[in-house]
Amino acid sequence: MHLLPQTNQLRAMHTIVRNRDASREEFVFYTERIIRLLVEAGLDLLPFAPRDVTTPVGATYHGLRFAEDLVGVPIVRAGESMEAGLRAVVRGVRIGKILIQRDKVTKLPKLYYSALPEDIASRHVLLLDPMLATGGTALAAIQVLLDRGVVEENIVFVTFITVPEGIEAVCSRYPRVRIVTSAIEERLNENAYMLPGIGDFGDRFFGTD
Ligand code: PRP
Ligand code: URA
Ligand code: MG
Repeated sequence: MHLLPQTNQLRAMHTIVRNRDASREEFVFYTERIIRLLVEAGLDLLPFAPRDVTTPVGATYHGLRFAEDLVGVPIVRAGESMEAGLRAVVRGVRIGKILIQRDKVTKLPKLYYSALPEDIASRHVLLLDPMLATGGTALAAIQVLLDRGVVEENIVFVTFITVPEGIEAVCSRYPRVRIVTSAIEERLNENAYMLPGIGDFGDRFFGTD
């Protein structure tokens, strides 16, 4: 479990996006800023290899080379809000898609579709979904990746906010999957929404209801 440092700047951005009166423009602008921080934190968990370079003054800098065997997998729909943030920092990154929707009444996830790179089994995966609530959607998506041969420890689940119930669901079933988030909420309400939460992320980000 990797929680972003709870800086005043992060809390100020969370205050804007959690306000029910925030405009859609404010919501998109500030969630995208936080998503950028989350993506950077997720990338930091991937492996790096040593790399030396010569500086302009002829000295050697002993540095690192970023792992290139990466694929980003947004869980459609709300996860697509995180795709641009990943593309902005990893040039030419491969992108797979998994379409899962929670049933409006039962809140159980239904898998409709997936499209993933042929060689995904040998890649590290940043699985992207801003909401980890009951964990049903995350568990279903992780199962899709494992069925395609992805190694559990190669999955980093990047999520905007979560609750103890969601963390427990993922960590107890898949203890080697890492989770990166910007906030841990108090609990779920009777409709499986997080409290204090943010409401329906997908609807607020994409402007639907
Ligand atoms: C939301 C959210 C997550 C899921 C989390 O998706 O985007 O995917 O619920 O809930 P869970 O942890 O209880 O499964 P939803 O299917 O409501 O719609 P959307 O992605 O189209 O907005
Ligand atoms: N999906 C959301 O968009 N919000 C929640 O609080 C839970 C699931
Ligand atoms: Mg969703």
